[in-house]
Amino acid sequence: MGDGNGPSGYLRNNFRGVGFWNPTHILPHERGKRISRMDLNECPYPPSPKVLDAIQEAATGLNLYPDGTCPQLSEIITERTGVPGSNICYGGGSTQLLTAIAEISVGPGENLIAPDIVWRRFQGVFQVVDAEVTRVPNHDDASIDAAGMVSGIGNNTRLSIVLTPNNPTGLMLTEQELRHICEGTPENVLLFIDEAYHEFAIHAGGPDAIEIVKDRKGPWVVTRTFSKAYALAGLRLGYALCSSEEITNALRLATSTFNLSGVAEAAALAALADTDYTQFILDENTREMNRIKEGCWEMGLTYMNSVTNFISIDVGVENGPVVRAMRDRGVRVSTPGYDATGTYIRASTGLPEDTDAFLSALKEVLAEQSG
Ligand SMILES: Cc1ncc(COP(=O)(O)O)c(C=O)c1O
Repeated sequence: MGDGNGPSGYLRNNFRGVGFWNPTHILPHERGKRISRMDLNECPYPPSPKVLDAIQEAATGLNLYPDGTCPQLSEIITERTGVPGSNICYGGGSTQLLTAIAEISVGPGENLIAPDIVWRRFQGVFQVVDAEVTRVPNHDDASIDAAGMVSGIGNNTRLSIVLTPNNPTGLMLTEQELRHICEGTPENVLLFIDEAYHEFAIHAGGPDAIEIVKDRKGPWVVTRTFSKAYALAGLRLGYALCSSEEITNALRLATSTFNLSGVAEAAALAALADTDYTQFILDENTREMNRIKEGCWEMGLTYMNSVTNFISIDVGVENGPVVRAMRDRGVRVSTPGYDATGTYIRASTGLPEDTDAFLSALKEVLAEQSG
């Protein structure tokens, strides 16, 4: 029996002694100061004023439980994707759905397959389901190996996970690569595509995963979010587009009937309607991303050619001390969260002044660390 401090017999093995890392934690020296938050791939702009009005109006109904099926929002999403409302499950951010997707498809001892380099949260997902994980090495440029994602599937594989664009690389799959994965993944394997950065990929001229995965014969789920291009990370609203009602209902069971806040649907509807504001966010993002890339190029640094709102940069020295020294200067960036690239840092785009702060802090820190 555990004593509350150490590993405890009453928890399942995979939940014993786990740590907790709070990514939004503010350090004492950061309190009350303007910090460049470039570590969490957030949108640096506030939500559209129309969204704020919609939230205020909807807030008067917060005494009631929300309709977790979001009928009005589903109508718009159906119009844009062709996926019927019965096949859309909403979640408290798409993060909540990632775990649920793994839980409904793969049990302890069964196999799931995923690229080796993925968003660090997936480590937690793997741990929750306690599955055997096949990690498919990424190509040398860190892009996902589409052929490897198909050939690595075994008899025991229940779930295949791909991310496009991927985090922390910011790289997306081509239409051809996506087609290869959709067609090559067997019909008894659930194909899960994380498309949290969908709007950025489309803005960059990339493929729309839904248009491709719809032709697949086997089961699939695509997740998207309002956290990034719609500036609503604090609202916690993501959704899963599913190939069947059965998968959707399984996700609803694995999450909760009242999964969303009561203002989420109204906010999302207003955000989708304000296309000018989304375009503004995407255009600003591209401009600041280009400024970061140019600044890095001038410093002689190489980087992954991200299409998203974050970028992984090779700083040429150990990344941990660089991240800490940047933070001491009021610029929060992160390590990419996987072992193989100990000299990469990941930075999100910010406001123009954040780009200025980032580039000047990085120049100073690298001069210091390599000197
Ligand atoms: C690849 C990827 N998927 C999903 C998410 C989750 O976003 P949210 O839970 O805010 O919808 C993130 C957030 O950074 C991400 O990078």
